[in-house]
Amino acid sequence: MSDERAAGDAAAPVEVRVLATAEEVCEAVADELVELARRRPEAVLGLATGSTMIGLYAALSARVRDGAVSLERVRTFNLDEYLGLPEASPRSFRAFMDEHLFGPCGIDAARVAFPVAPGAEGADVRAFEDAIHAAGGIDLQLLGLGGNGHIAFNEPGSLRDSRTRAVELAPRTRADAAAAFGGLDSVPTRAVTMGVGTILEARTIRVLALGAHKADVVSRMLAGAPGSELPAGFLAGHPDVRLLVDAAAASGPDGR
Ligand code: GLP
Repeated sequence: MSDERAAGDAAAPVEVRVLATAEEVCEAVADELVELARRRPEAVLGLATGSTMIGLYAALSARVRDGAVSLERVRTFNLDEYLGLPEASPRSFRAFMDEHLFGPCGIDAARVAFPVAPGAEGADVRAFEDAIHAAGGIDLQLLGLGGNGHIAFNEPGSLRDSRTRAVELAPRTRADAAAAFGGLDSVPTRAVTMGVGTILEARTIRVLALGAHKADVVSRMLAGAPGSELPAGFLAGHPDVRLLVDAAAASGPDGR
């Protein structure tokens, strides 16, 4: 099943692609990444974490394993990282990326960047932004959606022109992460995130939302919720943004 349509603010639509299953979404985005990396082996990728990305990274790793593409020369910039975790925490976004993408795809540590290293006290956010510019800017940025409409860790109230910075996590965001951390008390309260303005400078943005638990945030985004309330709303108006959803995430706020 494929259903292409434009939705959201009429003046600044977000293109939406609905596919039947999460697997189909992951395969479609993996195809686009493979095409980019073949055309531009030194492509600059903006990477996201979260359960939404696991299937995509598995699909991409399979293509690398099959010899369909090499990712050894890409540069990568991750969206965000928690503050306050021990350096070796398996819950850091760095550990997630090592497990799901960098390890399986042979992407060398020298070619990856995070806005802060796990275990670090503070971030050199200026150096992170400078490194993106020095690399020529991000060719393709992957994004998931937080349950409260955040993108990366830009929580509701973030500004459209915000840059990479340390932030407090919203209560909803911490609650959503509680199971993965074995309890709310173990979830960090702060993180460093790429800013909304930084994200919007990527040449291409692909947003993935999978599962019925994302139906509400997807429908709010497509209804044109203002970015100040729902940061994903800031993506409307970007010249090359597409939202890819499975049927469950497209089912509307009450599952219809
Ligand atoms: C975290 C990340 C976001 C991600 C979100 C959704 O909050 N900072 O970048 O989009 O989780 O996670 P999941 O894919 O597990 O629903």
